[in-house]
Amino acid sequence: MLKDLTPQHAEKSAKEVGCLAQQPAVDSLRARGAALAAEAARLSEAAEQAAPQAKIAEKAERTLRKLQQKFEELEAKRGRLEGELRGEQASAEASSGATQGSSRAEAEARQRNQALTQRVKELEAQLAKIQGPQHAGADAAKNRQQDEAIAAAEREHLALQQQLEERGRAVAKAREADAGIAAQLAKLQAANGRLGPRLRLLQAASAKLRDGQGQATAEARAAKQAFAEDMGRAIEAARRLGEEAGAMQANYSAAMDDRKKLHNQILDLKGNIRVFVRVRPMNAKEKPTEPTGEATVSFRDDTNIGLFDAQHSRRKWFEFDQVFDPNSSQASVFEEAKPLATSTLDGYNVCIFAYGQTGSGKTHTMTGTEKDPGLNTNVLRELFHIRDERKNEYDISISIAITEIYNETVRDLLCPTAKKLDVKINQDGSTGVPGLTELKVDTVGDVMKCIKEASKNRATTSTDMNEQSSRSHSIVTVRTQSTLRGGDTYIGKVHLIDLAGSENTNKSGVTGQSMKEAQNINKSLSALGDVIQSLVAKNPHTPYRNSKLTMMLKDSLGGDSKTLMIVCASPAQTNVTETSSSLNFASRARNVELGKAKRNAVAN
Ligand SMILES: Nc1ncnc2c1ncn2[C@@H]1O[C@H](COP(=O)(O)OP(=O)(O)OP(=O)(O)O)[C@@H](O)[C@H]1O
Ligand SMILES: [Mg+2]
Repeated sequence: MLKDLTPQHAEKSAKEVGCLAQQPAVDSLRARGAALAAEAARLSEAAEQAAPQAKIAEKAERTLRKLQQKFEELEAKRGRLEGELRGEQASAEASSGATQGSSRAEAEARQRNQALTQRVKELEAQLAKIQGPQHAGADAAKNRQQDEAIAAAEREHLALQQQLEERGRAVAKAREADAGIAAQLAKLQAANGRLGPRLRLLQAASAKLRDGQGQATAEARAAKQAFAEDMGRAIEAARRLGEEAGAMQANYSAAMDDRKKLHNQILDLKGNIRVFVRVRPMNAKEKPTEPTGEATVSFRDDTNIGLFDAQHSRRKWFEFDQVFDPNSSQASVFEEAKPLATSTLDGYNVCIFAYGQTGSGKTHTMTGTEKDPGLNTNVLRELFHIRDERKNEYDISISIAITEIYNETVRDLLCPTAKKLDVKINQDGSTGVPGLTELKVDTVGDVMKCIKEASKNRATTSTDMNEQSSRSHSIVTVRTQSTLRGGDTYIGKVHLIDLAGSENTNKSGVTGQSMKEAQNINKSLSALGDVIQSLVAKNPHTPYRNSKLTMMLKDSLGGDSKTLMIVCASPAQTNVTETSSSLNFASRARNVELGKAKRNAVAN
């Protein structure tokens, strides 16, 4: 029986336990069992040797057998326990991990250890019983050896216990950690449980979005493509329209030029007085009083002008040969007047006069400033230009005289000290001022000098309406003589007239001498009005002799002249009555038919 407790048997048992976590403890127990068995064998041998005590030995043998039997029972029990332990270990590993299994195995090992400890104690007690009477005093050395062996077994047992305690602590720690991990795992699982449905929703939404995005991208691509195609078509259409518009504009411009030429030809044939209207910019005095809303003066195109009378809430439209808005330049006015003025060199009589209320811009239009000269200078410059162009075929000479009609007297502005002058109507119906200074001019510089001199001598005064109001009618007369080499001589004349302004003496606030000037100015202007009226009505008698002004203008307002009247006007509502009167007068003048202009040619 004892042979079952050999080290080999113990080793086999240990192999069976295999992977058990408490293997070292079991091995140690097994070794200790083997040592005990060896000790028992040795004791049995000793008992046999002690022949005299054979009976006692037999008894001891029986006792040992009994012990052996009990030991075997214990061993069998241990085997069962190990089997159960392995089974539970396997299931523990499968279900809740190694920690739990190892703790259970540890508990069982502890139990078994206790049982073995108990058993060892019992064996020791029995041995002591057996050996006590036999060896008392017989072999003290052997007893000591046994004691030492027991003491060693006890130390081993102690060490085993310490190991078990350490292992217990490690297991407790592992359990704690395991519990922490389990708690965390539970938390995570709970969170996962909560997040799961949301995640699924999000995944579904994301999938939907991906689908939508794909669709939107495709649609955007298609729209972009369609847009690019539309744009291409639109650009092409715009280009074609631009071309058409350009062609139409060119046609329109050509048509307008043709219309103007035809219109001028008709006017030439009928001898109509051409009428331009020029509206000056609003001045600082007028601006604050101008009512908001309807503009006093408006322009529909370059021939139609509307005048709004705020008092009667009425706008009246007028048509003229050309209208100039407040932004128009001196050059643009000259451009329209140029063909008429330059026909002087072809032997025509031309008359350009500026008409309008005081302060409306007559002097600005005719004289202008040195930096921004008016028609007088521009016309003469053009005459010089044409002279230079024609110098190979023509000999052209140009002279200038400047007069003013002040309080019904004619004054020579190029020679203010000259004796009194008068207007004479010649036999042939032409007019002239005998004794008037006439200066030959060759350059624009010469002309500027003359105009400067005349301006110095001209009668002006400051009124409430115009700081530099002309108190006389100024007349620049340019005579041209063009002799075609080997041909005729053409004598032309152009009167450039800056009339004194018609004046409401209440408004201009004049008294005394200025009042007399105003009355004379108004008288001569009304004489001009009468002449125009008579010409419109084609009366057999025209009252030229009623004023010096109408006498001077006789050959420009009668028969063989080309005449242009430039009506100057204020854009302000405060002057609407005067502007209305000027435009009505200009409309009447426009109906005057002077008959076809004649060329003054002298055969050489
Ligand atoms: N087209 C214009 N652009 C700028 N300023 C202008 C224009 N017309 C007139 N003016 C200014 O308005 C003021 C009055 O003009 P201007 O002296 O020519 O009037 P007028 O008709 O000659 O008056 P009067 O009959 O009293 O002599 C001047 O200061 C002039 O410079
Ligand atoms: Mg003036």
